[in-house]
Amino acid sequence: MNSSRPADAVVSIENVRLGFEEGDVLRQVSFAVQQRETLVLLGETGSGKTLTLKLAAGLLRPDSGRVSVLGQTVSEMSEDDLLDFRRKIGFVFQEGALFDSLTVADNVAYRLREDRMDEQEIESRVSEILRFVELEHTSDLLPSELSGGMRRRVSIARALINRPPVVLYDSPTAGLDPVTSQTIITLILRLRDLYGVTALLATHRLQDGFALANFRFDPESNRVLPARDSAAQGTRFLVYRDGEVYFEGSPELLAATSDPYLRKFLV
Ligand SMILES: Nc1ncnc2c1ncn2[C@@H]1O[C@H](COP(=O)(O)OP(=O)(O)OP(=O)(O)O)[C@@H](O)[C@H]1O
Ligand SMILES: [Mg+2]
Repeated sequence: MNSSRPADAVVSIENVRLGFEEGDVLRQVSFAVQQRETLVLLGETGSGKTLTLKLAAGLLRPDSGRVSVLGQTVSEMSEDDLLDFRRKIGFVFQEGALFDSLTVADNVAYRLREDRMDEQEIESRVSEILRFVELEHTSDLLPSELSGGMRRRVSIARALINRPPVVLYDSPTAGLDPVTSQTIITLILRLRDLYGVTALLATHRLQDGFALANFRFDPESNRVLPARDSAAQGTRFLVYRDGEVYFEGSPELLAATSDPYLRKFLV
């Protein structure tokens, strides 16, 4: 069902197997994500969504198979090359993973300081990205002084600080109320439509995927508008089941399915 050729894909997972003592989690997984596309990864808890994102980020290696991102074979890279590679990937971790003892601004600046960027440049980049996520007033606060939704926005700002062409979102709306979830999805829409990032988004919330498919960000009016057609938004769904890709296709195809297993996700 996967028509995208790995050759021109931004992210390509080919015949990947990954397991632990308890057995294989991913068994024979293949898929590809094209430039500017958002692939929404669905699956029950423990189905391997987070592991997949970690494979794409080069934080884990598969037991077999190949992982390529931006034309590089991540699964065969040396540790040194991986350090370099990870600069091109924004990872929004499932738990946010902010440093509790650092202020918002220092959390966001973390990667740039690691790269020894000039402090003045860091300051201007940090205020720019904090403005983008509408959190410029929180720069001196600690993560513990923020709401869950604000912390999630700080995680997104931190992941985006070095303007990565590929962003991996791990359950970015988990545990948030519907209104706050909507602000996170709007942020993801803006990143896609303003900067054309290629994204992999793991989620339990099917609504997130449909919102990405059915809406677009219009820079002229600075508003979120209904999409003319969802295919143009480049949103595709992929559902894991028992370590394999059980479904891959458009939001419309998933919405219209009569498959009882898939329908569980639609409820
Ligand atoms: N380091 C590890 N050692 C052993 N098992 C692991 C390890 N990391 C993950 N697993 C197992 O792999 C499976 C898949 O984990 P993963 O975190 O990818 O699931 P998920 O789809 O992201 O779930 P959720 O929706 O709850 O976030 C789980 O059963 C988990 O226990
Ligand atoms: Mg997970």
